[in-house]
Amino acid sequence: MTLAAIVAMTPERIIGRDNSLPWHFPEDLKFFKRTTSGHPVVMGRKTFESIGRPLPNRQNIVITRDSSWSAEGVETIHSKEELAEIELQNQRVFIIGGAEIYSLFLEDLNELFVSWIYTSYEGNTTFPEFENFFGGFTLVESHPEFEVRLYARPQTICQESGEQD
Ligand SMILES: NC(=O)c1ccc[n+]([C@@H]2O[C@H](COP(=O)([O-])OP(=O)(O)OC[C@H]3O[C@@H](n4cnc5c(N)ncnc54)[C@H](OP(=O)(O)O)[C@@H]3O)[C@@H](O)[C@H]2O)c1
Repeated sequence: MTLAAIVAMTPERIIGRDNSLPWHFPEDLKFFKRTTSGHPVVMGRKTFESIGRPLPNRQNIVITRDSSWSAEGVETIHSKEELAEIELQNQRVFIIGGAEIYSLFLEDLNELFVSWIYTSYEGNTTFPEFENFFGGFTLVESHPEFEVRLYARPQTICQESGEQD
């Protein structure tokens, strides 16, 4: 399994305000849809409730500590370890937030897609410090308001290029 996360953040690592996104960039939403479609997506209960419905064409997995919580069209897990017990519909799995869930999985990520928003926005939800977990980034695409960066663990790149047995 490849564990990837996808997030949009400002240079101050702001990702949310009052349980929603502080900005609206249609090109970023399109990038998110294009990148995650067909893949399982894992999200915190708060992020699921801020989206308000399961994301179409994706296996939706919601993490909560509440054993009585359920919602139509989603599978529920109660710990990080339970993800291993789910039958995944694709080998690349996306962690899609929010802050608590990014922090929970940060040390396990092989890849991190960051929509790096050039402008600062006010917010009260912040992505954890992450640069030390990765060996730099490659530029995926550029837009007037943001660029998409792919941070990858060095060993992931080696494995994909066959340099490591
Ligand atoms: N910019 C972006 O790309 C992006 C992406 C996603 C979300 N967001 C934003 O992020 C904000 C939401 O983030 P958040 O950190 O407040 O909430 P969250 O991570 O979406 O969800 C937190 C919830 O996840 C569950 N949880 C957390 N750790 C757990 C664990 N170890 N085991 C089991 N369940 C666990 C708990 O649910 P229970 O309380 O039910 O137990 C907790 O309340 C919103 O503003 C949203 O818009 C931004």
